[in-house]
Amino acid sequence: MNDDARALAETRDYLVPDDAVQNSEQIAAHEAPCIPNYLQETYWWAYLHPKSFLFFERAWVVNIILWGNMNRLTAAVLDELQLHAQSRVLQVACVYGDFSNRLATRLKQSQSHLDLVDVASIQLRNAEKKLGQHDNVSFHHQDSNDLSFSNAGFDETVIFFLLHEQPAEARRKTISEAIRVTRPGGKVIFVDYHGPRRSNPLRYVMQPILAWLEPFAMDLWREELAAFLPPDIEPEQVSSTFYCGGLYQKVILKL
Ligand SMILES: C[S@@+](CC[C@H](N)C(=O)[O-])C[C@H]1O[C@@H](n2cnc3c(N)ncnc32)[C@H](O)[C@@H]1O
Repeated sequence: MNDDARALAETRDYLVPDDAVQNSEQIAAHEAPCIPNYLQETYWWAYLHPKSFLFFERAWVVNIILWGNMNRLTAAVLDELQLHAQSRVLQVACVYGDFSNRLATRLKQSQSHLDLVDVASIQLRNAEKKLGQHDNVSFHHQDSNDLSFSNAGFDETVIFFLLHEQPAEARRKTISEAIRVTRPGGKVIFVDYHGPRRSNPLRYVMQPILAWLEPFAMDLWREELAAFLPPDIEPEQVSSTFYCGGLYQKVILKL
């Protein structure tokens, strides 16, 4: 049993089977990171429990959770990529459904490479199974707050629905690490929740759901994502597009 599973088993009344969490040889681990408190306390049921995959790891479930917008939001990321031959793209944190598969497929067209990071080894194992047909993907057991990649090694970095799950301090560190590992002239692409317009009925449906299940998400309703960027980022480096009456945002940061 690895650290993720042990930590989880110690705090919950169930045991995680060893075979569900052993590190694969293909998962590049430096020093295995600890599971952050917010993930263990708030999201254990969605990302750390082995049974979470039975429910969430279905493209149609993810699409329902996003009110039918999964395809549109995935396309919004793919449309933004400016790939050249052998680009290196980093995806920070695994995503249920078909997102990484579509990203890896797109990257393959230009012999580009996808590096996928997650702090939970159980998530990486799942991603590895899901993406096994791609030979242009590497898996890294790392915390988004403390990436072990060198500075400026990636052409583009993608962060899809991670920031709303993190407390403000962790969110800021994730963003500054993403900036650090992306080269000057490259882009960081964020897709996440945003505070919808008052005329959007989903505002009144999603507010109690997020406040109950995803408490840190409300930060992104109250403030623009730019509020969490480092102070040396200039406003003209940032552009935002909104979807579904403002419930979702894509923010592009040009470095
Ligand atoms: C990208 S987010 C949510 C994505 C989206 N809601 C979905 O449908 O999957 C979920 C992932 O973030 C990972 N994660 C959370 N905090 C992290 C951190 N500090 N570093 C790396 N991965 C993290 C979780 O382990 C989980 O696999």
